[in-house]
Amino acid sequence: MATPHINAEKGDFAPAVLMPGDPKRAERMANLLMPDAKVVSDVRGIKAFTGEVDGKPLSIMASGMGQPSLAIYVTELFTEFDVERVIRVGTCGGLSDVVKIGDVVIANGAHYEGVINTHLIPETHFSAVASHNLVQAAWEAAEGDPGVVVAPVISRDRFYDVPREVDEAAARVGTAGAEMEAGALYGLAARHGKQALAVLTVSDHLTVDSVDMTAEERETNFQKALKLAVAAALS
Ligand code: HPA
Repeated sequence: MATPHINAEKGDFAPAVLMPGDPKRAERMANLLMPDAKVVSDVRGIKAFTGEVDGKPLSIMASGMGQPSLAIYVTELFTEFDVERVIRVGTCGGLSDVVKIGDVVIANGAHYEGVINTHLIPETHFSAVASHNLVQAAWEAAEGDPGVVVAPVISRDRFYDVPREVDEAAARVGTAGAEMEAGALYGLAARHGKQALAVLTVSDHLTVDSVDMTAEERETNFQKALKLAVAAALS
């Protein structure tokens, strides 16, 4: 049955969902991967697509920005639409010097700001970690590419007004990047007995002065992240 934010029927979603932040990117990904996909939901301009890749069912739907927005969609997908795994495909700001702009981070864990996971899982000192089988599938699909790293990120509830020393402190403990969704995604997967992963392209760098990617580089690096995310989704 339809939920407040997803006007689809049970059975309209594949067990695996790829989830970028941006609804326009979701549409581009769907056009690229499964041109015959059906639009199964369109509440608030967040279209969800379901089709097949290599004969396997797949859905694509955006999360919007930030942990609260992602949590609304992912909770409804896990509890009402029988979705078993969600793979976020997005960007992060680089933090540690193990990554440079254009690299892809397979986020094996997500430190997090905010209270979503404390509310979801109050009885333990919860660590937001990715599903190992999905990390492994994405890592194998990278085939030794030196521009792909497995490392934790930090999921913040703010984009602006983060002091540089806060970024540097996160980098010192091996945090590869900052983004705004993975922590809640991993918490929701744990809470509902499901699987989750985030595959993130480093779009800018927060502690190392560097030059932004060209449009062409962005596209190439996005394709790389997408390949790893699809491999994890269909594994
Ligand atoms: N913070 C900083 N830079 C970023 C982010 C973020 O959440 N996402 C992509 N670049």
